Amino acid sequence: MTKEPDIAVIEAVYGSDLYRLSLRLRETILRKPLEMTLTPEELADDVTRQHFCAISHGVVLGTVSLKPLDEATLQLKQMAVAEHRRGERIGARLLAHAEDWGHDAGFSLMVLHARIGAEGFYARLGYAAEGEPFVETTIPHIKMTKVLASG
Ligand SMILES: CC(C)(COP(=O)(O)OP(=O)(O)OC[C@H]1O[C@@H](n2cnc3c(N)ncnc32)[C@H](O)[C@@H]1OP(=O)(O)O)[C@@H](O)C(=O)NCCC(=O)NCCS
Repeated sequence: MTKEPDIAVIEAVYGSDLYRLSLRLRETILRKPLEMTLTPEELADDVTRQHFCAISHGVVLGTVSLKPLDEATLQLKQMAVAEHRRGERIGARLLAHAEDWGHDAGFSLMVLHARIGAEGFYARLGYAAEGEPFVETTIPHIKMTKVLASG
């Protein structure tokens, strides 16, 4: 049974309570397993990014951030879904929301560094791998891109 109708994808305004809850999820899913914490540099960069979260009954279940690289290009970062709620299309909804926001804001290309192991998720949703894998935050990643649909 899907729990999707209970879930909304909304902006987590920088500095807000939703942003802080999203940060906690990011840290738990993307940094703790690597025995790392979010760096002061990453946190400082957050002010330049757009943040979204998936929320259900006040609980943040997923998070994603967008960083403008130039006039045409957005980098999708920090995609994470709570472990106990994976496979419910929360990640797909966050990605679609991020893409719609990017398109509406005039961006034409989304780029991201997919963790090896998560690249199948992005491929399923229209992203193509580019180049060779590389190490980032101590683990292998691969660059992936998607042209944001026009019209
Ligand atoms: C990757 C992640 C965001 C996916 O979120 P999710 O909500 O579980 O994914 P969804 O339910 O929206 O899946 C959408 C589709 O992608 C597929 N998919 C999900 N994770 C996948 C994976 N790791 N590899 C291949 N396919 C995957 C699903 O089967 C589904 O396919 P379908 O369209 O045929 O039904 C989530 O597993 C996660 O947070 N992982 C840990 C953090 C991480 O690796 N983040 C990415 C950093 S680059």
